[in-house]
Amino acid sequence: MDPIRNPYAPGAGQRPPELAGRDEQLTAFEVVLERVARGRPERSLVLTGLRGVGKTVLLNALRSAAVRKGWGTGKLEARPDQSLRRPLSSALHQAVRELGHPEPDEADHVLGVIRSFAQREAGADAKLRDRWSPGIAAPAVRGRADSGDVEIDLVELLTDVGGLAADVGKGVAVFIDEMQDLGTDDVSALCAACHELSQNGLPVIVVGAGLPHLPAVLSASKSYSERLFSYQRIDRLSREAADRALVAPAAEEEAAFTPDALAAMYDATRGYPYFIQAYGRSVWDLAPRTPITADDVAVAGPEAEAELAVGFFGSRYERATPAERDYLRAMADAAVASSDDGVEDPVGSVATADVAGVLGKKPQSLSPARDALLKKGLIYSGERGRIAFTVPHFGRYLRTQA
Ligand SMILES: Nc1ncnc2c1ncn2[C@@H]1O[C@H](COP(=O)(O)OP(=O)(O)OP(=O)(O)O)[C@@H](O)[C@H]1O
Ligand SMILES: [Mg+2]
Repeated sequence: MDPIRNPYAPGAGQRPPELAGRDEQLTAFEVVLERVARGRPERSLVLTGLRGVGKTVLLNALRSAAVRKGWGTGKLEARPDQSLRRPLSSALHQAVRELGHPEPDEADHVLGVIRSFAQREAGADAKLRDRWSPGIAAPAVRGRADSGDVEIDLVELLTDVGGLAADVGKGVAVFIDEMQDLGTDDVSALCAACHELSQNGLPVIVVGAGLPHLPAVLSASKSYSERLFSYQRIDRLSREAADRALVAPAAEEEAAFTPDALAAMYDATRGYPYFIQAYGRSVWDLAPRTPITADDVAVAGPEAEAELAVGFFGSRYERATPAERDYLRAMADAAVASSDDGVEDPVGSVATADVAGVLGKKPQSLSPARDALLKKGLIYSGERGRIAFTVPHFGRYLRTQA
């Protein structure tokens, strides 16, 4: 069918033509926004899930919901080895602009605090620090949010931003993607600041998204984090939602799927959003006419898998060094060996000792590779001594590589 009218959107953070199966989170967030704006105590949302399940897309949708309510919003993506100060300053700068406070002096004061927070970048590279500017015209406010202790500074910063939002009867929401990559000091400061703000009833919330071990990262830093955040596991879509993700965008273009075709699609994609978009894209291009049939799905399979191999699996695999790739492949082998029926659970975990066994090496000698893979977000550890792929079906992909 006409590729120009192809509605599907495989790709990291690509807005899907139909955001299926996330009504629960969207509704919960509306309640959070209303309560926070009224100064009621409310836990913030943290979305967790595997790669490609749609965390970034959902985070963006939540942000849009906040913008529709007139909130000030900002977003950042955490990176390993990067301090929170600069990206958070940019996000809050944006949020304050969006709030549109009627008193320029008040807004400028808060912008000055954001600037002083940003400029208090810890670290040795003074030259870089001098050159970097947060793009804020207001002068830095000395003595506020610039103590150098990120916990104190964050509380002061968010208190001032929250005060500004409360003035206009709105709120501020900060969205943090890849939240598991925040440094330990920043995580614990952020938890402490959220704790403080919610006690004071200030309308500021942090909404996070990250890999499945994010709750463990947060609770390792502050034990009360479980009471601070409401964790929402973002998973593959149910059959019904997966069908809707395919059917609704097709209907917009006056096309349809036969029931068999939808069953075949679910069989192939298992309801993983990224796979749904990739298969949708391929089957649309290859199907001669509407309705799309199960035969069309069978024909499109290899092309969809080829697209996934490059766009989804390959792009992650390439980030691993040769030693890390050996480790990944050994994980895939260990997953098959340790399963009862020789069929690996697509998201199951394996014992690190078994991986070492496959490679015939001592577990300690493999820690550098394992740690690097954890840091690159290719694997995660949900429980001690066990690891799993963050990318669904990664094991199967690796075995077709060999
Ligand atoms: N609810 C949904 N319905 C249909 N398609 C979706 C849905 N959520 C996400 N997608 C599609 O899935 C793909 C992956 O989405 P996204 O990049 O948000 O995943 P992610 O969880 O952030 O992945 P990563 O961990 O790699 O960052 C995109 O192509 C997006 O369009
Ligand atoms: Mg993402």
